[in-house]
Amino acid sequence: MIFRKRLLAVAFLCASCSAAERPSRDPADRAMTDARVADATLAAADSESVDAAMTDARVPDAFLPPPAPEVLGASLLADENPDPSIFEANLVAAPHQKTLDDGTNLEMWLYNGQFPGPLVDVRVGQRVIIHFRNELELPTTIHWHGLRISSEMDGNPRIQDPVEPGGTFTYDFVVPEAGTFWYHPHINANEQVERGLYAPFIVREAAEVVWDVERAFIVDDMLLLGGDFAPFLASHPEEMHGRHGNVLVTNGHIEPRTGEAKQGQVERWRFINPANARTMRLRISGAEFRVIGTDGGGVAEAYTTPSVQISPGQRFDVEVRYPDAGEVVLESLVDVLVGDFIQVAPITLFTAPVSASELPVPEWRFQPRDLPRSRRSDRRVTLELDARNGPNGLEWLINGASHAHEPLFTFKKGDVVDITISNLAGPEHPFHLHGQFFEIFPGDTPETDQPGLKDVALVPGLSDLRVRAYLENPGEWMMHCHILEHAELGMMATFLVEE
Ligand code: C2O
Ligand code: CU
Repeated sequence: MIFRKRLLAVAFLCASCSAAERPSRDPADRAMTDARVADATLAAADSESVDAAMTDARVPDAFLPPPAPEVLGASLLADENPDPSIFEANLVAAPHQKTLDDGTNLEMWLYNGQFPGPLVDVRVGQRVIIHFRNELELPTTIHWHGLRISSEMDGNPRIQDPVEPGGTFTYDFVVPEAGTFWYHPHINANEQVERGLYAPFIVREAAEVVWDVERAFIVDDMLLLGGDFAPFLASHPEEMHGRHGNVLVTNGHIEPRTGEAKQGQVERWRFINPANARTMRLRISGAEFRVIGTDGGGVAEAYTTPSVQISPGQRFDVEVRYPDAGEVVLESLVDVLVGDFIQVAPITLFTAPVSASELPVPEWRFQPRDLPRSRRSDRRVTLELDARNGPNGLEWLINGASHAHEPLFTFKKGDVVDITISNLAGPEHPFHLHGQFFEIFPGDTPETDQPGLKDVALVPGLSDLRVRAYLENPGEWMMHCHILEHAELGMMATFLVEE
């Protein structure tokens, strides 16, 4: 880890300054050079690696950040800072009229007027500066979901004062690791996310495998009524199960997305589920695919599965290859009520003809990754998830408390903690920890059907799920159900990780 950071620090210095301008160790000299580069380097690395960056002149060219490939299905947030070590951009949350594919004219709340919001596409070690302005009529914050950044920049409204209407805030952090992430508001999120405030955030390795094509699929649902959003938290089923929509939207569209593919090619697809409550099941036909990444980035070993189950908040990366010409189809398997029975109905999200080519039989490209696994834990805790009827309706609880005010646990940085998440009620809970990763408990064998690092675990109704959490990021962090109605109705608490 340290080793990789050090290489990055070196690379960014060299990409940004000629040999003559390279910062020296003397602070006075350093002030003469580009201060932003020096700052970013300091932020990106511990002081030891900064020293290394400043003395080691032999830089492998391979570590200069290459241009990111285009991601089909997402529109890029432009980097306004010429310094390659810094990504800097403006972001505005504001109401916008948006016409959906079916002609519905909807009052949405959007980032930079886009639905979904614009893609942030950066490399490990880059410093990200987002000048945010709130043009909504109510307070908001931005949570960078899954990024293990400092808790001051995490959009947690208990730490960051909410950005009031007309207010601004500058988010400024260094991205620590590669993966597929996303960003969204963290106040009144059930309404703000439903109205369109969500966007993808990709972090790439300094030098990573290149796929022929990259695509993003941000698969949401919305609950509309008479050409508008149905009232929020206005029904018992919505309080109980979360808000399940009546239209599926992929990358902001109701109509299936279309594209082109080519026999012999290998693609990387990234899935993000920003829905308030709906767990999606995604199936790809007309191609071979395997899972290569989860919430916390690349998996130790790619695996195949008939369909990818993705709960609210989760991400999955798959690689897709086309041994044959034909047609590739991405579907969401949705439960529908037919008479008295629930049946699975496939809804097409994306199709592309796969054109014939002379390319050789495609080979998988994903490189397995070493995951920081631990065979033992330092501590065990239990989270009991439950509900009760309160004076204002249903309240969702973590360990007996709704919107617990004091942190539920205090851990130490580096602790490996086994958490039993015990779901005492019927509805499922996609449970989310901020700022940390965990794995679904490996049990007595290293095998589990949900390998990889996660920040959201789906806990089915009336059952227990054990996770092993790696608490490496100090600060005060939120934990909550990612069914946003459950969170809003109290299933939200904090924990501390002490330095
Ligand atoms: Cu994506 Cu606290 O949430
Ligand atoms: Cu829940």
